[in-house]
Amino acid sequence: MTIQDQLNRPMKDLRISVTDRCNFRCSYCMPKEIFGDDYVFLPKDELLTFEEITRLVNIFAQLGVKKIRLTGGEPLMRRNIHELVSQLTQLQGIEDIGLTTNGVLLKQYGEKLRNAGLKRINVSLDALDGQLFGQMNGRGIQPALILEHIQLAQQLGFHIKVNMVVQKHVNEQEIIPMARYFKKRGIVLRFIEFMDVGNDNGWSFAKVVTKQEIVSLLQQEFDLEAVELDYFGEVAKRYRYQDDGVQVGFITSVSESFCSSCTRARLSSNGKFYTCLFASDGLDLRALIREGATDAELRAAIVDVWEHRTDRYSDERTAQTKKNRTKINMSYIGG
Ligand code: GTP
Ligand code: 5AD
Ligand code: SF4
Ligand code: SF4
Repeated sequence: MTIQDQLNRPMKDLRISVTDRCNFRCSYCMPKEIFGDDYVFLPKDELLTFEEITRLVNIFAQLGVKKIRLTGGEPLMRRNIHELVSQLTQLQGIEDIGLTTNGVLLKQYGEKLRNAGLKRINVSLDALDGQLFGQMNGRGIQPALILEHIQLAQQLGFHIKVNMVVQKHVNEQEIIPMARYFKKRGIVLRFIEFMDVGNDNGWSFAKVVTKQEIVSLLQQEFDLEAVELDYFGEVAKRYRYQDDGVQVGFITSVSESFCSSCTRARLSSNGKFYTCLFASDGLDLRALIREGATDAELRAAIVDVWEHRTDRYSDERTAQTKKNRTKINMSYIGG
């Protein structure tokens, strides 16, 4: 069964946040001043259990979801996350499972995840300069550690992509060094336009470095050609270096929004179902589950929300500048 929203978009992907915690404090996501020692994260009993997640994913799969992405917070902070992967790989209809991580715990979990059947990992890395990266992640973690873990993950056979959030006057100067480094190693690097997720990250248009600016910069050093989209709803726009065929991607939520083909649903770590990264509220599936709802009832509730969906936040933001609304924090809703 496939379902469509008010703008004829099917539901094909589910991004699942498995924890709201993270061992980083990136200023654009979990600024230290807000996520300090006294910040209250969700207690364990409020998180969906792996069994509850698997049950829901099975229902989502019946409604057309084929692609799962595990996020957080930092998904590897959820204890025994590989056991969830292993349950999800067994579900009928799920064709692709990916995980987005900051890479710190990959040494601990890489092999277990691989054995559980995970094939794809996206690693976030915003700079190669140690001091800058340490400052950006708010914990002084060095890029060398993440690079070592990326290599390890490659050796384990994972398909790796690297995500770099670019902010004006913060890490622009890292664009070329990052491009050179990952091109040489044949790894796809994606440049992400800084987005106004949550309410606390000090976003403004002036802090965004657009895809066009990055492409122009790269073209001073490399010959690039655009690559056709792989499938409807692909998030990244891709280019290829002409000399070696290695690809780079751009996630252009600000300068070229992609809402018209947005097929993504989101599940927060405490079981709320959201239909947009910038949503202000979601349907509490955990409450329904714990009140004893049947699969048919859960399915009907999900269908009802999706069929009423009209979200196109990024389209509207670029047209009218930033909107005034209280949004959900990214570490909670999942990227
Ligand atoms: P692939 O399956 O490898 O293409 O993964 P992905 O790019 O969909 O996922 P990833 O977690 O690596 O996300 C990369 C960036 O895209 C992050 O900054 C996400 O917040 C952003 N992103 C993903 N989906 C959406 C979306 O629906 N809307 C917006 N605005 N940004 C999104
Ligand atoms: N703008 C753009 N990307 C962001 N991410 C986190 N916060 C933001 C933001 N404000 C990215 C992370 C990670 C992915 C899940 O989302 O760096 O790669
Ligand atoms: Fe953690 Fe990722 Fe947010 Fe950084 S962007 S604070 S690594 S969840
Ligand atoms: Fe989808 Fe909302 Fe992102 Fe637009 S802003 S692409 S509707 S999640």
